[in-house]
Amino acid sequence: MCSNRSAFGLLLLAWLASVTILSVEAYSTPPPTTSNCTAISTFDAALQECVIQLGIAPERLDQEYNLLLYPADRDTMCLVRCIGVLLRFWNDTTGLREATIRQYYEPAPEDQDYQNRTRSCLAALEPSVTDVCERAHRSFLCYHQHYGYLRRTDRYVPKTPLEMKQIQQDCVDVYGLDPARLNHYQDGQFPDDPETQCFVRCVGLRAGLYTDRDGPNIDRMYIQCESCADETLFRAKAGECIAAQRRHKLSKCTAAYRTLYHCFRDDQLDLYASLTTAAAAVTTTTTTKKSTPPNAIPALSVRKPCDRAKLSPDAWQLEIILEGLYNRKH
Ligand SMILES: *[C@@H]1O[C@H](CO)[C@@H](O)[C@H](O)[C@H]1NC(C)=O
Ligand SMILES: *[C@@H]1O[C@H](CO)[C@@H](O)[C@H](O)[C@H]1NC(C)=O
Ligand SMILES: *[C@@H]1O[C@H](CO)[C@@H](O)[C@H](O)[C@H]1NC(C)=O
Repeated sequence: MCSNRSAFGLLLLAWLASVTILSVEAYSTPPPTTSNCTAISTFDAALQECVIQLGIAPERLDQEYNLLLYPADRDTMCLVRCIGVLLRFWNDTTGLREATIRQYYEPAPEDQDYQNRTRSCLAALEPSVTDVCERAHRSFLCYHQHYGYLRRTDRYVPKTPLEMKQIQQDCVDVYGLDPARLNHYQDGQFPDDPETQCFVRCVGLRAGLYTDRDGPNIDRMYIQCESCADETLFRAKAGECIAAQRRHKLSKCTAAYRTLYHCFRDDQLDLYASLTTAAAAVTTTTTTKKSTPPNAIPALSVRKPCDRAKLSPDAWQLEIILEGLYNRKH
């Protein structure tokens, strides 16, 4: 079946947003590391940044915000929106990204009802509230007041398309790949060749979505995938696919390609998404191309040649490829 609207590229590329503000290093956050290139990934860092950006009186930090008080005045409402934008749990058009904001709150162990309280709070937010600061603030308070305790540690900030583009560029550079490859990749074409396999691994590593030891980080993949609605199903399906691949003994790059690309292509993601509405059990081979769910990743109509015969042997080594690449280049 040659239905490759193949778009690991989409999962990794499908968001457009400005991230230039994130390069501001107005205060001491740890320098970006290889595994995460976003400077701001804690709640407090985003809070600090936004207080400065919006010119809010700094004493409000200690008097209110650090005490977890977020009153409904104009400055605070827009402060909350700013924090949400930086940590990417808020989008003015689409609203709260719940899988992302959830990471910042730890439910109390004895609390059985936090999800219901949060949900009814969000449901009570009238559509007539159109001001983005007010909507952001009201939505945020539902989590802040009902979901759990604020977690101040590093969390996963979903990558924007721009960041993904940079990561892809870095990976092409690191492996000395033909720059023309980038066009294919950014079109969502990831042919099964050794260079591409290593490229996929490189992107996964740099985006913080993958490690050689543990494979794809399903938590983060779910956060990264905005269109994946049913989390239980997503986890089950992705887990199944990854486990099936990891039963084989594969080289590092092949393992990355098989798990990251094959298990998270957009046809897979569509499947996860459509299963949330169709109760019927569908196997991974019967990918029905029905109408895309309302919030699905917009699909590129990119098709790649279906050359199954060109499946590379499992046993090639990263070192050999690197050698080949460098020999060719120098
Ligand atoms: C918000 O979401 C819309 C629709 O998905 C998208 O087009 C836009 O780029 C997003 N904005 C930001 C700042 O991420
Ligand atoms: C949460 O809501 C669901 C459905 O609305 C209900 O069945 C469930 O009992 C509620 N849970 C608690 C702990 O109240
Ligand atoms: C960022 O990198 C640091 C150090 O490598 C790591 O401890 C942390 O978990 C990473 N955070 C995210 C959100 O990726």
